[in-house]
Amino acid sequence: MEKRTAESFEKLPRHVAVIMDGNGRWAKKHRLSVPRGHRQGTETLREIIRHTDDLGIGALSLYAFSTENWSRSEEEVGALMQLILDFFASEIDELDERNVRILILGEKDRLPQRQRETLEEAERRTGNNTGLRLNIAINYGGRAELARAARMIAEKVKSGALAAEEIGEETLAAHLYTAGQPDVDLLIRTSGEMRLSNFLLYQCAYAEFVFPETLWPDFTVADYDRALDVFAHRQRRFGGR
Ligand code: IPE
Ligand code: IPE
Ligand code: MG
Repeated sequence: MEKRTAESFEKLPRHVAVIMDGNGRWAKKHRLSVPRGHRQGTETLREIIRHTDDLGIGALSLYAFSTENWSRSEEEVGALMQLILDFFASEIDELDERNVRILILGEKDRLPQRQRETLEEAERRTGNNTGLRLNIAINYGGRAELARAARMIAEKVKSGALAAEEIGEETLAAHLYTAGQPDVDLLIRTSGEMRLSNFLLYQCAYAEFVFPETLWPDFTVADYDRALDVFAHRQRRFGGR
């Protein structure tokens, strides 16, 4: 099938967020292990990142592991941690060549050392790239991100660098992981679930939501294009007429 070009869309979002959900159900459907489902999901991930970059969309935020996902079995968490290493080992060269700038959203300190180092290295290596902003949320929670911002702002007030009266919406935005990036325009959650599950709470204030039924490992570039088309035909009012 022909790949769609940017010009074939009436308009494109500047920032797309994706909650990659349904790996477990996909595995169950195929009588495979849950870790196998997650591995299959990384194939989708590769394709969606490439296509987003080819379309020239400015920012892509992917929910890979939430602060709540630690409650899963040791085996599953271990498999997800291994996938993080495998993903960066196989993708980092191409992403860097594509001029993609990687940013990890979330608390890296709670991750095992190898994962932490891999993620920090990916951020360092691509830090000066000027292409697609690829945000990968790992050990991320929207509420934790807001609490972190509040702490940083409070420190500045305490030290006298900032006056409490000066704190506005922009101050908060500037202390989020996504500082300097546009708000989310389009949020896609696969697998038919219709909730945010603590993802980008602040950044999604005026996002358009699209909920394809497809499970993440089955999600194709064509499904993604359909979501982009839905977005293009949504009327955004931002509270106006
Ligand atoms: C999403 O797939 C990936 C992660 C949470 C890491 P799930 O594992 O949540 O898949 P379902 O919801 O059980 O189908
Ligand atoms: C959200 O999916 C987190 C990721 C996709 C990484 P979950 O499957 O963990 O969310 P809930 O539990 O269905 O809300
Ligand atoms: Mg799920």
